[in-house]
Amino acid sequence: MSSPSTAASALDTIVALSKRRGFVYQSADIYGGLNGVYDFGHLGSLMLDNIRAAWKHSVKAQPYGPVMMLEGALLAPEAVWKASGHVDNFHDPMVDCTACKKRFRADEFDLSQGCPNCGAHAWTDIRQFNMMFKTQLGATADSSALAYLRPETAQAIFVNFKNVYSTYRVKLPFGIAQIGKSFRNEITPKQFLFRVREFEQMELEWFCKPTESDNFFDIWQAARRNFYRAIGLRDENVRMRPHAADELAHYSKCCIDVEYQFPFGWKELEGIAHRSDFDLSQHASHSGKDLNVFDEELKLSYTPHVVECSVGTGRLFLALLFDAYHEDTLGGEQRVVLKLAPQIAPIKAAFLPLVKKLNEPMFAIYEAIARRGIEVEFDDSGSIGKRYRRHDEIGTPVCFTYDFDSQNDHCITARNRDTLVQERISIDSLERYLNDLLR
Ligand code: GAP
Repeated sequence: MSSPSTAASALDTIVALSKRRGFVYQSADIYGGLNGVYDFGHLGSLMLDNIRAAWKHSVKAQPYGPVMMLEGALLAPEAVWKASGHVDNFHDPMVDCTACKKRFRADEFDLSQGCPNCGAHAWTDIRQFNMMFKTQLGATADSSALAYLRPETAQAIFVNFKNVYSTYRVKLPFGIAQIGKSFRNEITPKQFLFRVREFEQMELEWFCKPTESDNFFDIWQAARRNFYRAIGLRDENVRMRPHAADELAHYSKCCIDVEYQFPFGWKELEGIAHRSDFDLSQHASHSGKDLNVFDEELKLSYTPHVVECSVGTGRLFLALLFDAYHEDTLGGEQRVVLKLAPQIAPIKAAFLPLVKKLNEPMFAIYEAIARRGIEVEFDDSGSIGKRYRRHDEIGTPVCFTYDFDSQNDHCITARNRDTLVQERISIDSLERYLNDLLR
């Protein structure tokens, strides 16, 4: 991010821009909002779709094996979460200040310094708080009707492993990928989309022979690092950080976080975990079902090992906004520009008639491109300068202007968001121009 100097003002700037331009709204805003829950507006939804498409492409575009898609249910019975370890292990330490009644995560600051809200030294005991949302299915009140909203998408993949394996007759190694919602009752949701209670994850579970799992753990680290480069996050803002032994989740043999340098510090963007055979073995023993595979070459049956790559779509969305945000001065006026990679930008091009009199021919050109399925906008309100500024602020990579010469030379002016270079291009070559830009 170039400009706002403190973490708080950087965050406020992004929150305000997101609301002003229709990227993200506080959920149930007109009722005072729901803490840690957000809705995505038109531009936000388009950008999320672009992030999902880039992620899906990145996990499939590798030479090691096929990746099958899954869309699992959001609810699963308690038995699944018992087997996965979430009922017993998925909790955060919670503490309350008895003076101001505020609640905190006890591992996020030094309790001996007093309450960050009121300064009092009046803590309750630390309790373990399970972060899953529990619910009851149907009218029966016995424990067999207990279900939980999933806190990660991964378990739907493990539970369906044998279904996918036998339906598609795939051979190891292969991946199962899923993009979908997860829910965590975070004690302190914070930093806008960074830590929320309802969020989307993009998760890949890569199943392989036990002897190949360490190698694939390395391969996926390199692949994931390249992904962040490809979608435009600046190198200096991304780093890989191995977990110390005492940080490992209950299912991990080893784990590397891809971290992003947010204005509020280096924080996890994605977890890459060597889950070994933990999940499949747990589900096999709890369900009584055989989740092993038979290796025809080795004439041997074994439980596959798993390398997992897991990133939150909203958290990545936030990192992309911070990374792309720039302020500069143009012709004496302050400009806000989102330098998003064209593949991530919600609107790919804006079509601007120089004056309203030229609306008709420009609208026809815009419509022809829109009908090809490229996300573009027609904009005829305000001066050209104002329209440029509007599109810079939402990251539109190129603005096309139709002027009086266009009627004679059959060309329009393309103005690049980042270089500000303006070039005349033939209307006939417009689609190719846009496809090159988006490649
Ligand atoms: N299946 C593994 C798993 O869920 P995790 O590290 O707990 O691992 C993976 O979560 C990713 O999901 C994180 O790196 C982050 O991007 C995202 N994530 C987790 N909790 C989140 C929350 N409360 N709000 C937003 N994103 C979250």
